Amino acid sequence: MANTDPATLQSDTIARIEAADSLDALEAIRVDSLGKKGSVSLAMRSLGQLEGDARREAGQQLNAIKESITTALEARKSTLAEAALNEKLASETVDISLAPRPEAEGRIHPLSRTLEEVTAIFAEMGFTVAEGPDIESDYYNFTALNIPPEHPARQEHDTFYLTPDAEGRRKVLRTHTSPVQIRTMEKIKPPIRIIAPGRTYRSDHDATHSPMFHQCEGLVIGKDIHMGHLKGCLIDFCRAFFGVDDLPVRFRPSYFPFTEPSAEVDIGCSREGGGLKIGAGDDWLEILGSGMVNPRVLQHCGIDPDEYQGFAFGMGLERIAMLKYGIPDLRPFYDSDLRWMRHYGFVPFDPPSIHLGLGA
Ligand code: DAH
Repeated sequence: MANTDPATLQSDTIARIEAADSLDALEAIRVDSLGKKGSVSLAMRSLGQLEGDARREAGQQLNAIKESITTALEARKSTLAEAALNEKLASETVDISLAPRPEAEGRIHPLSRTLEEVTAIFAEMGFTVAEGPDIESDYYNFTALNIPPEHPARQEHDTFYLTPDAEGRRKVLRTHTSPVQIRTMEKIKPPIRIIAPGRTYRSDHDATHSPMFHQCEGLVIGKDIHMGHLKGCLIDFCRAFFGVDDLPVRFRPSYFPFTEPSAEVDIGCSREGGGLKIGAGDDWLEILGSGMVNPRVLQHCGIDPDEYQGFAFGMGLERIAMLKYGIPDLRPFYDSDLRWMRHYGFVPFDPPSIHLGLGA
């Protein structure tokens, strides 16, 4: 038997267990008493020195002590575990008053936004959207639009030509969206009311020109379409797009091979003090080209000019975006610079029709 008498061993150990203030301290006490070299285990081992009844009695007493220590260890362990859990619950509450972390939110590119606005305005007037290829034949880009090979207008377009095919025909990157007029008139019968937005290409590069840019074409063909329709449609468009109800709009005689007569459309503005203000002052700003479709163009598409006529228009989308949103340089449009996008971009889920005052 060990030096300490069993009753003291029991009361000392249980007192230490009850005083233990952590699960680690409790584990140390368990090793101290019940572990291989612990006090109770050593006492058990020393039983071999006793004989007969004394050995049996001492054995029973030690077993009872071991059991009571085990019970006390378990009880203290669950008390400490519960206290630890309560402390954790108290200290780790979720503070629902905290503002959510900001999420990285994308922006709508001013060009996408402008296209949405233009489309929304013309959709309200009953136009649908038509498309055509970026790589065009010379016929659709020029000839069918009344620009024959020797025509001086070809020089003005700074055309990108592709490598000629076996027969020497050169395809072009379309220099304007006007070829979609031809493709549409070949495909569907009048009445026609379409817009054709898309990419266009010219060999030109500076602060207001890019070799790739965007245009939006418009075409209306019917039996009794006249210049009054052209004017009304484009005045309404300019006023809705720039959000100025009484915006002055001027039709200035011009020349395009595919329209006759042709008119450049200007809007009223002021350039006083270096800034540009749309809708005020007595200056003018060119916005788009337009005209009554040339009868030769209708003939190229198999439409009888004695029965049908119509009007067409075309505008540069970057140009009207820059004017409306005060963007001074065209080049950053294609730079994918996030700082520029955060400054000039638009938040998503903010449909343009709300701002344009269009009906639901
Ligand atoms: N295609 C012309 C250009 O790129 C723009 C244009 C002018 C289109 C008059 C038209 C139009 O449909 O009628 O400069």
